[in-house]
Amino acid sequence: VHNVIFKDSSLASIVVAHEIARLIRQKHDSNDNCILGLATGSSPIRVYEELVRMHKEDGLSFENVITFNLDEYYPMTKENIQSYHYFMHEHLFNHIDIPAKNVHIPDGMVPMHDLNQYCSQYDALIDKHGGLDFQLLGIGRTGHIGFNEPGSHYNSKTRSITLDHITRVDAAPAFLGIDNVPRKAITMGIGTIKKAKRIVLLAWGTNKAEIIKETVEGEISSEVPATYLQEHPNTTFVLDRAASSELT
Ligand code: F6R
Repeated sequence: VHNVIFKDSSLASIVVAHEIARLIRQKHDSNDNCILGLATGSSPIRVYEELVRMHKEDGLSFENVITFNLDEYYPMTKENIQSYHYFMHEHLFNHIDIPAKNVHIPDGMVPMHDLNQYCSQYDALIDKHGGLDFQLLGIGRTGHIGFNEPGSHYNSKTRSITLDHITRVDAAPAFLGIDNVPRKAITMGIGTIKKAKRIVLLAWGTNKAEIIKETVEGEISSEVPATYLQEHPNTTFVLDRAASSELT
């Protein structure tokens, strides 16, 4: 793992978007699909904005792109404006030329008795495409990546999990109160994420400074699932100054 620290998150996001665009074009030139793992939340918004700009202004095509999102609340309908399904269409998919069939977001309405099978099929589909070429991540204050909360096993697969209280507190404003925040989610596992050939984790602001310090400098432990990334051979933490302010 190495860290790259930028003056501000906007510049950092543009650099990350350009890395993704380069990969998409490179795959296109060799007649390959580009398999992207995507995140929601506030951290990647500016990255998606730049990808949309490159599509509109620089002719960047997403026709060869296949995406797998990290997570979705459970239960959650696609139409709900709090859903990650809605978020991804609003910030990215509605504005680019990706074929609808190439978009995969965990379905927050899968019946409970089908969940296990649904989750293993999600992992199997990623494998069938040859694995993730690039995985974009944010990080929660609990140290979660995806919704792999403290206690997650380093080899965990896509599955349903119970959200940590801190995660629900952080989501409460968007849901207009903690009582409205779902208690569960479907998330790609740590094992699923770690198989990606390239991982970029974004963290902005002083709110993330403490968990970034624990993630980068702490011992690898299920208490801070993001520390598992220390073992990944091709991960970069992209930080702004505020998020890096606790690093020694
Ligand atoms: C979202 C996800 C989460 C977020 C994390 C940070 O798909 O997997 O791990 O990346 O909760 O969220 P923000 O970026 O809103 O601070």
